[in-house]
Amino acid sequence: MDGNGRWAQRRGLPRTEGHAAGEAALLDTVEGALELGISWLTMFAFSTENWRRPADEVRYLMGFNESLLVRRRDELCDKGVRIRFAGRRDWRVPKRVLRRMDESEALTAGNHRMTLTMAFNYGGRAEILDAVREMVSEGIPASRITEAALRRHFYIPEMPDPDMVIRTSGEHRVSNFLVWQNAYSELVFTDVLWPDFRREDLFSAVCEFQGRSRRYGGLRR
Ligand code: IPE
Ligand code: MG
Repeated sequence: MDGNGRWAQRRGLPRTEGHAAGEAALLDTVEGALELGISWLTMFAFSTENWRRPADEVRYLMGFNESLLVRRRDELCDKGVRIRFAGRRDWRVPKRVLRRMDESEALTAGNHRMTLTMAFNYGGRAEILDAVREMVSEGIPASRITEAALRRHFYIPEMPDPDMVIRTSGEHRVSNFLVWQNAYSELVFTDVLWPDFRREDLFSAVCEFQGRSRRYGGLRR
């Protein structure tokens, strides 16, 4: 969900207004994904690198994410959305925010229509490191360290690899998002800034995806 700051700056507003405006984009995109029957949708909300931002912006983002959850989880739940979180639950995430995350996961745990994962305090490299550390601490021998075993130690082991990744705001990077899982994902880039993103933008990304030929290193059949 990139481009919030630029969206705000173009309007002469503080960056935080851009984050606030991203809420409508998030909800409309979820709605569009439900219409399409997408069963897994993951949003990159806050990265392990975002702590480098000024303290007041970080503080705003923590509070904003918490309040968004509290304000929106019931309607998401009513739509059959299961909310999950992927990322490091370290000391930097305020206890109150962690509690809201747990509550939201518990509230929506019985939903099956779509899993909405918020990648929060998430880094792809951190996820791989955390998985390896867990395997080592479990005493798993080197011969048992396979791709499947590594996956079983990711934050959400049952999450399928993404078919498609959309990067907004004209940036052309993966920026540490699901780096292992993205190995064969179709990347779609758009200049739309996140607060302006709507379900129609999701639909056009899906159309672009449908025109791609996926070979996974093999030859076209
Ligand atoms: C994305 O928008 C929001 C987060 C990373 C939390 P940005 O804040 O990165 O917006 P730009 O890239 O500065 O425009
Ligand atoms: Mg950015």
